[in-house]
Amino acid sequence: MAQFTERVALITGGASGIGAATARLLTQRAATVVIADLPISNGAKIAQKIGGEFMPLDVTSESNWAETVQSILHRHGRLDVLVNAAGIVGDVVNGTLAKTTLDDWHRVLSVNLDGTFLGCREAMAAMQKTGAGSIINLASVGAYYPTTQSVAYGASKGAVTQLTKTVALTGAENGNRIRCNSVHPGKTSTPMLESIFTQYQQRQAAGDADPRPKGRHIPLGDEGRAEDVANLIAFLASDEAGYITGGEFTVDGGWRLLR
Ligand SMILES: NC(=O)c1ccc[n+]([C@@H]2O[C@H](COP(=O)([O-])OP(=O)(O)OC[C@H]3O[C@@H](n4cnc5c(N)ncnc54)[C@H](O)[C@@H]3O)[C@@H](O)[C@H]2O)c1
Repeated sequence: MAQFTERVALITGGASGIGAATARLLTQRAATVVIADLPISNGAKIAQKIGGEFMPLDVTSESNWAETVQSILHRHGRLDVLVNAAGIVGDVVNGTLAKTTLDDWHRVLSVNLDGTFLGCREAMAAMQKTGAGSIINLASVGAYYPTTQSVAYGASKGAVTQLTKTVALTGAENGNRIRCNSVHPGKTSTPMLESIFTQYQQRQAAGDADPRPKGRHIPLGDEGRAEDVANLIAFLASDEAGYITGGEFTVDGGWRLLR
């Protein structure tokens, strides 16, 4: 199993779900882990439990990003891994083309896309120091399969997938080996998935028809675990993935096979 001794990893959205599972795994494998998330009151406690350190970061803020990365360089001297896991799903019932307001659209795009862009830009600059590093962007199977109910989310993840490839090319310039890959989870058991189910239940309770997209049975079972996604992220972050860049990796229990 790859170890991350003397490696420094920054994980956005690290206080919950896939980000937290990744933080736990990298900490267990000896990385110095910075868990960056919105300034929540129990952030430090969550990070302490995981074994990392907490830094408040709103990924939509350009100045916040610059401060966070500068602070990491100041305290740890380097940045080796960035996992852009911060994300929001928005409204998955009324998120249709007709009902999505420009504000709704901007809200989802600002976290999922602007946040990932800013992270890639700041990490790329920091990683020039060693000329090496790994950036992992959380996209989604939603990048491939549109649903009529969440227009902004799908668009944001499609854009993250493309952005990842530009970052990968940039990271290979001038003899550098700064890699960038996108990870595309399917249904993964996290607070985000719970929030989606809650939205569905509220609509049904209000008397609407079942708003869930009609899908087929997922070959390896209905829901993956955050740890399943974290395992893939840890591999892509490691030197074992040293020749892998610009790739798209699904972790979806075979969902794609039946779509
Ligand atoms: N859970 C799934 O089924 C699933 C499927 C496909 C893709 N994804 C993607 O995986 C990533 C992680 O999702 P998750 O399921 O762990 O969600 P989650 O809701 O459990 O965690 C997301 C984290 O992002 C943080 N966050 C939100 N806005 C932020 C901001 N502006 N700045 C900083 N942090 C912010 C939240 O506070 C939270 O801690 C997301 O990008 C999501 O779109 C999840």
